[in-house]
Amino acid sequence: MNVVEMNAITKYFGEMVANDHVDFDLRKGEIHALLGENGAGKTTLMRILYGLYKQDSGGVQINGKAVQINSPKDSIANNIGMVTQHFALVPPMTVAENVILGHTNRFVLDYDAAESSVADAARKYGLDINPRAMVRHLSVGQRQRVEILKALYRNSRVLILDEPTAVLIPQEVDVLFETLRKLVDDGLSVVFISHKLDEVTNITNRITILRDGKSIGTVDTCDMSHNQLAALMIRQASFHVNNKIAEIKKSRSLLNIKSLSALDDQGLPALRDINLTVHTGEILGIAGVSGNGQKQLAETLCGVRNCTEGEIKLDGITLNGKTAGEFTTSGMGRIPEDRLEGVVGELTVQENLALEHLYQFSNKGFLNHKAIQKHANELIVQYQIKARPGDRIRTLSGGNVQKVLLARVLSTQPKIVIAPQPTRGLDVGAADYVRQQLLEQRNRGAGVILISEDLDEILALSDRIAVMYEGKIVGVLDASEANPERLGLLMSGAVKEM
Ligand SMILES: Nc1ncnc2c1ncn2[C@@H]1O[C@H](COP(=O)(O)OP(=O)(O)OP(=O)(O)O)[C@@H](O)[C@H]1O
Ligand SMILES: [Mg+2]
Repeated sequence: MNVVEMNAITKYFGEMVANDHVDFDLRKGEIHALLGENGAGKTTLMRILYGLYKQDSGGVQINGKAVQINSPKDSIANNIGMVTQHFALVPPMTVAENVILGHTNRFVLDYDAAESSVADAARKYGLDINPRAMVRHLSVGQRQRVEILKALYRNSRVLILDEPTAVLIPQEVDVLFETLRKLVDDGLSVVFISHKLDEVTNITNRITILRDGKSIGTVDTCDMSHNQLAALMIRQASFHVNNKIAEIKKSRSLLNIKSLSALDDQGLPALRDINLTVHTGEILGIAGVSGNGQKQLAETLCGVRNCTEGEIKLDGITLNGKTAGEFTTSGMGRIPEDRLEGVVGELTVQENLALEHLYQFSNKGFLNHKAIQKHANELIVQYQIKARPGDRIRTLSGGNVQKVLLARVLSTQPKIVIAPQPTRGLDVGAADYVRQQLLEQRNRGAGVILISEDLDEILALSDRIAVMYEGKIVGVLDASEANPERLGLLMSGAVKEM
């Protein structure tokens, strides 16, 4: 029995067809993956089901009945809930207040009743969360649980999760999967969007693959290997990461970090006495469970966070005390970790691409728009960005926003490239592409700092690997002596070696 049926859904944005006669059906009690490259149309299809977009043609049936969904109100009335990647929570309110927000027909809220019903739902589905906690004190993983609770509180029987694991650390992913299994055991149905093939093959029953806005088909998960899935998703052959290119002849030390300490946003120690050297033509991998200071390290190294002690010396020049702009002009390039912070959504692709180096495009205070557009066209081709120079950033798919950021930073040829979680949320082809770009930076002689939670990625790319734990570097290994077990032990804080 299909709880949802979408038939021949077509959606245009201007002249671009984001969904082209897509068929999709969801069975009761299944977890159904939507898989496809960045920009394939996954989010668009689910936004139509949730009433955030209106299809140009095609129909939706819920439990066998044709329905019109014009807004989330209609989809909620049809027991459909969606958790997007950017949560719509109110930080200064409690969990319970957020959950019942907009879903009460009473004038005066009955907080006690709300709290106990939220606590009941939380217990039932293993969504460990205190209804009285303030949302602003919660981690990303906990906030996601609140969003799921909100959907369940509205009696969702269909739950749409758009890249829910992109923001989670591995342990949180396990917890989420436990919850999803409980939900489907209870007869709910889940749409799961992810780029991670191992997650998709681990948790889903069926997979629908989108490519360029069209459905390639729906398959049973158990019939498919990773290679088969990747081949279905990707048009051209994927880039193959090859780390064995040009051995760099003479490597010299480029970045020297001495006794670096810094505080986090709460004023607590985030970096403790960090000593690191990065050489020309080297990728230094930083491994670690997220939240152990990696984010603050990246910020301190590009001057957006002040250090409390220590020294950052790039090519003989001390950078401490300089502004973020001076860090950039001295040769520090950071690919921002939070994509939405790194771009200005209301500006166009070409404006965003020029953003950090406007001086290149201005003459006596006037901007040369022709040059900005030409620059953008070149980068769009080089970095295979699926967009036009004049498109507003907010209309791009997640992966294409990441490519814009990458293009902007790398096109300035920084001496040091800081890449925190650079492939998060990218499809297989795009992730390989980004990795290849990092290798090319290394091969042209830059020093690359690759911060990643993905051990396979760290091991595949790095020349040396440093492990962070509780704000400290607990070990630095040569890639040749590193393996997942050894790194895992260091990451857990169980051992220390230098
Ligand atoms: N509001 C919008 N206005 C204009 N174009 C849009 C809008 N939303 C999406 N698009 C375009 O529709 C296409 C499909 O985008 P969509 O976000 O559905 O892709 P996706 O499969 O979710 O990709 P990703 O994996 O990167 O999130 C993209 O080319 C995107 O630029
Ligand atoms: Mg998307």
